[in-house]
Amino acid sequence: MAEQLLSGKVALVTGGSRGIGAAIVRHFAEEGAGVAFTYRKQKEAADALAAEAEKLGVRAKAYQADTADFDRAQKLVAEVIDTFGALDILVNNAGMNRDGVIWKMSEEQWDAVISVDLKGCFNTIRAAAPHFREQRAGRIVNVTSINGLRGKFGQANYSAAKAGVIGLTKTVAKELGGRGITVNSVAPGLIMTDMMQQMPEQAKQASLDETALRKLGEPEDIAWICAFLASDRARHITGEIIKVDGGQYI
Ligand SMILES: NC(=O)c1ccc[n+]([C@@H]2O[C@H](COP(=O)([O-])OP(=O)(O)OC[C@H]3O[C@@H](n4cnc5c(N)ncnc54)[C@H](OP(=O)(O)O)[C@@H]3O)[C@@H](O)[C@H]2O)c1
Repeated sequence: MAEQLLSGKVALVTGGSRGIGAAIVRHFAEEGAGVAFTYRKQKEAADALAAEAEKLGVRAKAYQADTADFDRAQKLVAEVIDTFGALDILVNNAGMNRDGVIWKMSEEQWDAVISVDLKGCFNTIRAAAPHFREQRAGRIVNVTSINGLRGKFGQANYSAAKAGVIGLTKTVAKELGGRGITVNSVAPGLIMTDMMQQMPEQAKQASLDETALRKLGEPEDIAWICAFLASDRARHITGEIIKVDGGQYI
C-alpha cells in the first residue's frame, strides 16, 4: 500500500459538506487523517460524508458551526480536541459570495462576505493558535482565490475578503513560524462546485477563455495541494500563496 501523507493526524476543515471542502475531507481521510469538518445548513450531506470517510478506517465527524461566529469557533476547536484527542491541521475553506457591482452593493452583501470569508479564517485560527503554539506544531491552510490577488468585476466584497486572507496568511506565518507552525494559502481559479453554478453563463465562458488549460478545475485539484501543504513534506513551506487555476491568472 502507498504511504499515506497524513497518517495519524487530525484535521479540522471548515465548510466540508460540499464542493472543495468535501473533496478535502475525502482526500484527507484517504491519506489517513481523522477529519472533523463543519457545515452551515446541509446536515444530511455532512453526516453522509462523515459516514463515507469513516468507511476508510479513520474517525470523521460533522459539526454545525457558522464560521462567522467567533465564540462558536472557540467551542468548536475545544470540542474537536476533546473528541479526537488532538488537532494537527486546520483548513479554512468555508466561503460564500454575494456578487454585485460596487455602486449597487448593499452593506449586508459586504458584511456577509467579509464575516464568512475573512473573519471566519481569523476566528478558527485564533481558536487553534494557542493549541498549536503549545504543541509546537501545526499546519494551517487557508483557501483564498485568484480574485483576491487580482480583483474581479462584481466581486469587491469577495476580492477584498480573499485579499485579506492573503495578508492574514503571511502575517500569521511570521507570528507562528517560531513554533514550527506553517501557514499557507491556496488560491483556486474557477472550480466546478455549487458556487460556480451561480455565475452567469457569459462570465463562466469568459473565465474559461482566459484559462490556459481551457478547462475548469475540479474540487480534487484543490484537495491534493491542501493535503501536501498539511503534510510533513511541506515542512519548509510557509507564508506562500499557491495558485491552482489551470493558468487562469497568468
Ligand atoms: N468554486 C470556485 O470556483 C472557487 C474559486 C476560488 C475560491 N473558492 C473558494 O473555495 C472555498 C470553497 O468553495 P466551494 O466552491 O466549494 O463552495 P460551495 O460549493 O458553495 O460550498 C461552500 C461550503 O462552505 C460552507 N459554508 C458556507 N458558509 C458557511 C458558514 N457561514 N459557516 C460554515 N460553513 C459555511 C457550506 O456549508 P453548507 O453546505 O452547510 O451550506 C459548504 O460546505 C471558498 O472559500 C471559496 O471562496 C472557490
